[in-house]
Amino acid sequence: MPFPIHRMRRLRSSEPLRRLVRETRLSPAQFILPLFVCPGEGVRREISAMPGHAQLSIDNVVRECEEAKALEIGGVILFGLPESKDETASGAYADDGIVQRALRAIRRQAPGLLLLTDVCNCEYTSHGHCGKVVDGEVDNDQTLEWLAKAAVSHARAGADIVAPSDMMDGRVAAIRKALDANGFSNTPILSYAAKFASVFYGPFREAAESTPQFGDRRSYQMDPANGREAIREIELDLEEGADMIMVKPAMPYLDLVYQARQRFDVPLGAYQVSGEFSMIMAAARNGWIDCERAMMESLTSIRRAGADFMLTYFAKPAARLLG
Ligand code: PBG
Repeated sequence: MPFPIHRMRRLRSSEPLRRLVRETRLSPAQFILPLFVCPGEGVRREISAMPGHAQLSIDNVVRECEEAKALEIGGVILFGLPESKDETASGAYADDGIVQRALRAIRRQAPGLLLLTDVCNCEYTSHGHCGKVVDGEVDNDQTLEWLAKAAVSHARAGADIVAPSDMMDGRVAAIRKALDANGFSNTPILSYAAKFASVFYGPFREAAESTPQFGDRRSYQMDPANGREAIREIELDLEEGADMIMVKPAMPYLDLVYQARQRFDVPLGAYQVSGEFSMIMAAARNGWIDCERAMMESLTSIRRAGADFMLTYFAKPAARLLG
């Protein structure tokens, strides 16, 4: 006979009460802000599908990092747009590559922020695939060498965490081995362990100019239908030495964020990807949805599902709202 003894509405009757019993809280420290670094100086090329985001030259990236730090955002993750792309993704692992130079500049001019790098080749290859193409296919094992070199060059330039996002098999082990051999045994690996071949990366590919020129990524990124396989991917990455794991995208895959939280006692991130951001922004611009509330509700749901931290294009406005 629960009712009328129990009335769930009692604890919802005022904001102070609701605040007291709130189970899930957000803090800027849980946010990682993605940034797109491009060559040049004073460059800020707006990304049309991602309002508030732009391709930024290093000087502007440094400014952005200062702002992120002032907002107490946890960190930034860097994506690079190289001067030129080639068959061997040489810009991905060059010591003077765009991300490597940005890292050095941020270290020097805006210290104190956690610096993450996306370790992948798709922004650096002329064909836009995440690895070395041999006979029309992305060759897994040869790609590992590029990834390992890129991770080491990032660590050397000052990355605090390297985050492989390519979905090659064995990349975590290859990167761990290379980091250790080069004196970076303390550099953590955040693995994009369960990354799906998602339509929601669309706006990012405009931002990072990384659309594959032929075919798609379904031979390396995961089939959106597969949950058990995601758990297996995470298990394997942890066995290979991943320090932290990530599920990507976030909102369409909250079941996996939740399962990963239940099964693995390691730090868990989720990437609220470009399409998730753009959909909210587009609806808000049409007057169909309240932007701030959609932003906070989406981030809260990802956190409630079990993510410790979120990579999100809302990092700055959300941090501002919380501050
Ligand atoms: C690189 C990479 C992608 C994203 C992060 N790292 C694109 C892709 O896999 O095609 C997507 C991020 C986003 O959509 O915000 N491989």
